[in-house]
Amino acid sequence: MRIGHIQLANRLFAAPMAGVTDRPFRQLCKRLGAGYAVSEMVTSRKDLWSSLKTSRRADHAGEAAPISVQIAGTDAAMMAEAAAYNIERGAQIIDINMGCPAKKVCSKWAGSALMRDETLALEIADAVVAACAPHDVPVTLKMRTGWSASERNAVRLAVGAENAGIAMVTVHGRTREQGYKGTAEYDTVAAVKAAVRIPVVANGDIDTPAKAGEVLASTGADAIMIGRAAQGRPWIFREIAHYLDTGDELPPPEVDEAKGWLLAHLDDHYRLYGEATGVRSARKHIGWTVQALPGGAEFRARMNLIETCAQQVAAVGDWFDELADRGERMPTARRAPPTSDPMLQ
Ligand SMILES: Cc1cc2nc3c(=O)[nH]c(=O)nc-3n(C[C@H](O)[C@H](O)[C@H](O)COP(=O)(O)O)c2cc1C
Repeated sequence: MRIGHIQLANRLFAAPMAGVTDRPFRQLCKRLGAGYAVSEMVTSRKDLWSSLKTSRRADHAGEAAPISVQIAGTDAAMMAEAAAYNIERGAQIIDINMGCPAKKVCSKWAGSALMRDETLALEIADAVVAACAPHDVPVTLKMRTGWSASERNAVRLAVGAENAGIAMVTVHGRTREQGYKGTAEYDTVAAVKAAVRIPVVANGDIDTPAKAGEVLASTGADAIMIGRAAQGRPWIFREIAHYLDTGDELPPPEVDEAKGWLLAHLDDHYRLYGEATGVRSARKHIGWTVQALPGGAEFRARMNLIETCAQQVAAVGDWFDELADRGERMPTARRAPPTSDPMLQ
C-alpha cells in the first residue's frame, strides 16, 4: 500500500478524530498495528495557528513516519498556505477534509459542505496539490458519500480529485445528512474504487476483524480506516492485522499488556499537554477503556474527580490489578460505538 511515493507498513489506518487522534494516540495506534494515522484537523485560518490547540496539533516530535496532517477550510489560497505551513512543520502527507459534518465547519463551507460545491472543492484540491508538489508531498482527500441520499456525488468528486492530482481518497460510507446515525454503506465506496486508479480507503463502522475482512472484500478498497472502534481499544489494529494475515482471531490482550499500553499512553499524553490539561483530557481515553468492563462505570466516575497525574496513574494501575485478579485476559464486553462527534453542535 502506497500513498504517492510513500510506502506504508500495511493497509490499516487510524482515522482522524478531533480531540482524540493527537500525537500520543496516533503513536499508540501505530505501535499496536496501524500502518498509518492521520492527525486531527488543523484549520486553514492563519490567525489560529499560534493558538495552543493548533500548535499542539502541528507538533510531530518523535512521531513515526509518515506524518500526515489533515487541513480544513474553504478558501483555496488559504488551504495552500496551510499545506505549506504544515509541511514546514514536518507533514509528509497532506489530507484535505471534505467529510466533517460539524455545523461550525459546514456553515463556513468547509468539511462535507465542500461536497456540495464541486467547483470549489476541486479548486481547493488543485491549489493544495500545487503547493505540495514542489516538496514531493502527496495530497489525499477524505469525504463522505455525499451531502444527502439524493446528492450522493462521491464518485464524481473522486474522479475530479484524481484528475487534480490527489493521491488517495477515503470515503466514510455515510452522507453528511446522516451525521453518525444509521449504518455506513459500502456500495458507494465500491463504486468509487471502480471509478478511479488511485488507492481508495473504506471507512465507517468497521469494528471487528471479520467486518474489516468483509469490507475489504466487498469494496475492493486498498485499505480500511478505523475511528471509533479504536477508542479505548487501540489493539483492534493488531487484531485485524492478525485476522487478515491468518484468518484466525487473536485472543483478547492480557490485562497486564492493556495496562502497560494505557499507562505508556498516559505518560505520553501528560508530556504533550502538561498536568492540568493532561489529567482532564486523559479521562476520555481511560473512560473508553474501562467503560463496558466489570466495575468500569464506577471507576470512571471516581477517576473523573482526580486532578493529578500521579493519582490518575495510581488509580488506573490499581483498577487494572483488580481486573487481573478476575482473569488473565481483557473481558470482551464492548461499549456501543459513540454516535455523536463532539464537534457536531
Ligand atoms: C470524535 C470524532 C472526531 C472526528 N474528527 C474528524 C476530523 O477531524 N476529521 C475527519 O476527517 N473526520 C473526523 N471524524 C470522522 C472519522 O474520521 C470517521 O470518518 C468516522 O468516525 C467514521 O469512522 P468510524 O465508524 O470508524 O468511527 C471524527 C469522528 C469522531 C467520532
